[in-house]
Amino acid sequence: MRVAVLVSGSGTNLQALLEVAPQPDSGYEVVLVISDRERVKALERAADAAIPTKVVPWSGDRAGFTTAICDAAEAAGARVLVLAGFMRVLGAEAIRRFPERIVNIHPSLLPAFPGTGAVAQALAYGVKVSGVTVHFVDEEVDHGPIIAQEAVPVLPGDTEQILHARIQETEHWLYPEVVKALVGGRLQVMGRSVLWR
Ligand code: GRF
Repeated sequence: MRVAVLVSGSGTNLQALLEVAPQPDSGYEVVLVISDRERVKALERAADAAIPTKVVPWSGDRAGFTTAICDAAEAAGARVLVLAGFMRVLGAEAIRRFPERIVNIHPSLLPAFPGTGAVAQALAYGVKVSGVTVHFVDEEVDHGPIIAQEAVPVLPGDTEQILHARIQETEHWLYPEVVKALVGGRLQVMGRSVLWR
């Protein structure tokens, strides 16, 4: 299945997805990388892997921005949108056009610490365990049905950077596993619950 990956920054999750895609059992191919920002590292990674890229700058108009992204993804034949460090909120049209086919990864155990700065929020709160959540995207931020969660310990002396690096180690194996399950038709959404088959 063809997927588009949406990015805004460094793209280490994109890299992990690109590394798994050629494996015979992956079931997916990254056909387009869409960024809302120019000159980010994620775009370089896509170019290095010879994956087409498209920059859709944030226009301040959510509806127009969303249409442009959906049109670009569809034109590339993508049936799934994988948000990997994408820092914008898509409008309702995206959820209509890609129903149960948009996923996001977030560096905390939702519903704790949604939004930006999740790792810093967790540290400031003093939690002993944080982690990774992969969820379907709905119209609210970091809110849709949860597909997978993995706990990551918070250790004495952790800085935001150290903890985020530990969380990302988990992200990099978990996200490809979820995308494989999604494209393989192994995820069933029942209300807020997602069943793995
Ligand atoms: C990840 O930690 C992800 O959970 C969050 O943004 C970060 C993106 O990192 N949504 P990268 O661009 O994939 O390196």
